Amino acid sequence: MAARKAPEITHDADLSDLSTFRLPARAAELARIESPAQLAELPAPATPELIIGGGSNTLFVADFPGRIVLNRMRGVRMKAAGRDVLVTAAAGENWHALVRRCLDEGLYGIENLIMIPGSVGAAPMQNIGAYGVELADVLESLLALDRHSGEMVTLSREECRFDYRDSRFKSADRGRFIICEVTLRLSRHFLPRADYSSLAAELEHRGTDAPDPRQLAAAVMRLRRHRLPDPARLANAGSFFKNPVVDGNTAAALLAEHPALPCWHLPDGRRKLAAAWMIESLGWKGRSLGRVGVYPHHALVLVNHGGATGAELLELVSAITGSVERRFGLTLEPEPLLVGSSAPSGFTRS
Ligand code: EPU
Repeated sequence: MAARKAPEITHDADLSDLSTFRLPARAAELARIESPAQLAELPAPATPELIIGGGSNTLFVADFPGRIVLNRMRGVRMKAAGRDVLVTAAAGENWHALVRRCLDEGLYGIENLIMIPGSVGAAPMQNIGAYGVELADVLESLLALDRHSGEMVTLSREECRFDYRDSRFKSADRGRFIICEVTLRLSRHFLPRADYSSLAAELEHRGTDAPDPRQLAAAVMRLRRHRLPDPARLANAGSFFKNPVVDGNTAAALLAEHPALPCWHLPDGRRKLAAAWMIESLGWKGRSLGRVGVYPHHALVLVNHGGATGAELLELVSAITGSVERRFGLTLEPEPLLVGSSAPSGFTRS
């Protein structure tokens, strides 16, 4: 048997290429982990610890004084479960590649989530979602190292406490669990979910009102390509702000004043409002401050034109959230994790 490889550890590590927003920052320690066994070998950290996968939802606005764990665990296995198939993927697998592979195998349920950047292990953190589907719809369970007990634990979907772009991993239990594997319950039977208005419009435009799985995935990819920049060409972290979720009365008051503001009803009675619309209506779309700006094709996406610093980003964020607050009375929250700022969400506003 081959000797077990020790975790690869770098000190004073450059982080700029480990996040798709590419801000300059360094970490005291960077540990590259390829298996749960390597993870077990890492001593529990004395300094703060942060796990990253594809880096598409983490921005380093300042240097990190602790240990970054780069999760590079690989492997996918599939197991029949009645009419469904349980697909278990290691946290370091690429999410988009997993969606493609499942489509090739005739397994359905995540086709609307195609082309979301990042790793499988990052998907539960913020309960990734797009075009009417979110991870919580298909997640069966996940395997994680609990830093409190030092044990590997299996958490069910309910135990992950998913919400809109949120989970216990991102909020109450941030830093406690290191996700190693995610298990999805997928179906061999394709049920298209094409109600989301822009997706329905794209399918209608192509004359495919009853799409097959590949047509649906292709339509999602066309929408994403148009509305979101490719991070390889223009550094970004996808949607930068969450859509604010408010109660029915607040939504009604805002809609009376701004009738065109897009609004979705959530199953629990709350309303989700389109942050992109608010930002665009304030004239931010396409505008830049220094080397950061708002993407011209989607007002929810901030971009780094090259060489931007964390301070420049925070200045733009502050300017946008300030003007949204003044006009709409709502505080926008960032969707990605901003590492290096002091507030609990990892976010500082002036
Ligand atoms: N809109 C504008 N201006 C814009 C862009 C959009 O007014 O520049 C309006 C649109 O007309 C639409 C509404 O805002 O009525 C919503 O736009 P969109 O359908 O693009 O969705 P979103 O709410 O901005 C969310 C997710 C995306 C996901 C899309 C599609 C969040 C924070 N973002 O964006 O997820 O792809 O829905 O389902 O929930 C991500 O999380 O990184 C991400 C890209």
